[in-house]
Amino acid sequence: MPPHLLILGGTTEARELAAALTAHPAVRVTTSLAGRVTRPAPLTGDTRTGGFGGPAGLSDWLRAHHVDALIDATHPFARKITTNALQAARDTGIPSIVLRRPGWHPSPDDDWHPVPSLTAAAAALPALGPHVFLTTGRLGLSAFAALQNLHFLIRSVEPPAPPLPPHTELLLTRGPFTLPDELTLLRTRRIDVLVTKDSGGEATAPKLTAARQLGLPVVVVQRPPLPENAMTVPDVQGALDWLSALGLRSSRVQLPKQLR
Ligand SMILES: NC(=O)c1ccc[n+]([C@@H]2O[C@H](COP(=O)([O-])OP(=O)(O)OC[C@H]3O[C@@H](n4cnc5c(N)ncnc54)[C@H](OP(=O)(O)O)[C@@H]3O)[C@@H](O)[C@H]2O)c1
Repeated sequence: MPPHLLILGGTTEARELAAALTAHPAVRVTTSLAGRVTRPAPLTGDTRTGGFGGPAGLSDWLRAHHVDALIDATHPFARKITTNALQAARDTGIPSIVLRRPGWHPSPDDDWHPVPSLTAAAAALPALGPHVFLTTGRLGLSAFAALQNLHFLIRSVEPPAPPLPPHTELLLTRGPFTLPDELTLLRTRRIDVLVTKDSGGEATAPKLTAARQLGLPVVVVQRPPLPENAMTVPDVQGALDWLSALGLRSSRVQLPKQLR
């Protein structure tokens, strides 16, 4: 039986890792999605969708499907599944790693306002301008619903969950986005302030460059901390290297030579 790898997905990195691994026929790859998006981007390898039922449910799944290694490539703000994955790996003895892309860092020309939560982001906005470009995803936007005097342009892949602020325009689209497009958007919508999570990665970074070039403030929601003892790698290559090292050391996981 080829080694079975479970990727907890929902990110570009998870998709890229699945593509890199499924190029090797001697590895079986399953990517797990939470099921939040109705039309997820295409994935190679096997997929499964929906919650496992907490750490115990995930442990059961790992055992029942003879998983040899677990790669948590979920979004930096998906805190619960990362905690669950660590617990399940501990309980089952299955090796695991967190693939966590690095966060963004401000340059000296940036006017960033770091905040610990969406609620704190909402509290910061009235002092920063009336036209807000909100790019924090489709969930949790009720934090902004009481801001009756501000105008929101909300960009997300799927329609955000209500309640939303009364003056809201939706822009339903999926990245990546280019710098010229972001500059045009910020200019034509007369945006005063950008709100983002510190998601990191290339696909959505041009909005930060555009804000810097236009001298706009950016409210940056900081990442939740990783659980203690989580082993992390910053990119897909780091995950492949970790898997290769595992293949060299473990009798259970024998990865093809190309990965080593
Ligand atoms: N949070 C964000 O800003 C964000 C942005 C982009 C993409 N995503 C992706 O969207 C998914 C959900 O994010 P979230 O913040 O709602 O997660 P979360 O709060 O950490 O997870 C909530 C619950 O959803 C289920 N779940 C989450 N990710 C899963 C996965 N990959 N496969 C199976 N079940 C999963 C788990 O249910 P059970 O306890 O029942 O197993 C988990 O306890 C994640 O996979 C993440 O990668 C999140």
